[in-house]
Amino acid sequence: MRSGTAEFVESAEKVVGPNHVLTATEQTEPYAVDWTRRWEGHTPAVVRPGDVAEVAELVRLARRHQVALVPQGGKTGLVGGSVPLAGEVVLSLTRLTGIEPVDRLAGQVTVGAGVTLGALQAAAAEAGWAFGVDLAARDSATVGGMIATNAGGLHVVRHGAMRAQVVGVEAVLGTGAVVRRLRGLVKDNTGYDLAQLLCGSEGTLGIVTRARLRLVAPPGPLVVALLGLPSMTAAVAFAATLRTTLPGVRALEAMTGDSMRRTAAHLGVALPTTPTASAYLLVEADPASDDPTLTVADSLTRAAGEGALGDAVENAAVATAAGERAKLWRFREAQPEAAAALGVVHKMDVTLPTSELAGFCDDVAVAIADRWPEAATFLYGHVGDGNVHVNVVGGPEGEDVDDLVLEQVVDRGGSISAEHGIGTAKKRWLPRDRSPAEIESMRAVKQALDPDGILNPNVLFPPFCL
Ligand code: FAD
Ligand code: MLT
Ligand code: ZN
Repeated sequence: MRSGTAEFVESAEKVVGPNHVLTATEQTEPYAVDWTRRWEGHTPAVVRPGDVAEVAELVRLARRHQVALVPQGGKTGLVGGSVPLAGEVVLSLTRLTGIEPVDRLAGQVTVGAGVTLGALQAAAAEAGWAFGVDLAARDSATVGGMIATNAGGLHVVRHGAMRAQVVGVEAVLGTGAVVRRLRGLVKDNTGYDLAQLLCGSEGTLGIVTRARLRLVAPPGPLVVALLGLPSMTAAVAFAATLRTTLPGVRALEAMTGDSMRRTAAHLGVALPTTPTASAYLLVEADPASDDPTLTVADSLTRAAGEGALGDAVENAAVATAAGERAKLWRFREAQPEAAAALGVVHKMDVTLPTSELAGFCDDVAVAIADRWPEAATFLYGHVGDGNVHVNVVGGPEGEDVDDLVLEQVVDRGGSISAEHGIGTAKKRWLPRDRSPAEIESMRAVKQALDPDGILNPNVLFPPFCL
């Protein structure tokens, strides 16, 4: 352990108590690897503060001893942002699990950064409200991590991404200063919006300790439909039509036929519709009508009239009962785990201009198969947001496949990160997507809020490395 680190650890024990500073390798190892298993590092210590004052004191100590910190929540991030790849100290925020009573008048709640999405959803539901973001890692992903990555998920088409739910935050900046604005004022134009600046900052500017979150009305009776379609072009076009014609649309998720069949095989169940389709679309809506199923079926039929969808609508699997809906959702939500079951996955998370989305999906799948015939490619994502996840497993070891995919994204005017962030995985690519002026401005913000570069120094930008 470097001498600065040893002094930091000794002082940290006084701040959080010895039980909350882990240094034995068998204790720290689980904090040094993430869900993907692609990102594995090592750390001299894991420190687990219990409140904002402790976080602030730890940041001041880290500055004094020039120790780099990696803020960490549920470790479900997919770009290596919460893993101590360069031997940084891990600052785990999972003890910050306070949930204040729901403010029923405002439709808001204040929660600790370590609260899982699942716990937040349960608290909102108990008070007659719902939370606008949902994703498959709900039982592990934390509010702090979701803010830091500006998580998207399954309902962006209806409620927006995480930043749209954030009304205010409490955070410790890299300077050690505590900023706090948790009054729940929806309209508040008093200068820079620091809470929004922290959304998507990937732990590089400040450590979120609490958040004031907007809640949404719980959905009415839900209908889920899974359709097999002749092409990804048809899926993109149909989804676009449904965004304007399907009342109460909440989710529009697309998968390629290959991804769907591999996922069905992983789950050991038969596809409930058109088993040989080239693409699949999962639609969820709460149309608020007397007969929601009929309304959804009508909308699908009317929308299908405008495109060449074959018998997709007639053969669609449709569900209203919770258990049956969950079965259809499994075919979408299990895509990441089906890919991971085949090995360590190269995960690319990209947005394309809508007009380029289908062409990209078709071309990238062919390009990967031509170059690495042994690889399995899973393409799935939030088609209503123009966002597709490219997952390649069983192919090359290095970064060639990432380069092939991201090259096509940039050439087509897309973004190299739709919702997972840059992390360590894509920082090499940042200058291809953002201009020198943009990167310089981001560095200026980083320098102002984290002058010693102690917060996630190996994330987002090329290394600062303490
Ligand atoms: P971590 O992985 O621990 O950290 C992620 C980043 O946030 C790191 O840079 C870390 O340093 C920083 N960070 C963590 N906590 C704090 C804090 N308190 N303050 C400051 N910085 C912090 N993401 C989507 O957007 N949409 C999806 O649909 C989606 N589905 C997923 C499905 C599966 C099966 C899995 C495994 C992941 C999925 N994800 C999805 C990715 C992941 O769940 C999100 O990125 C989530 O926001 C990460 O939360 P976390 O608590 O696990 O953060
Ligand atoms: C998803 O939409 O399933 C996630 O963002 C996770 C992934 O990309 O694998
Ligand atoms: Zn996603």
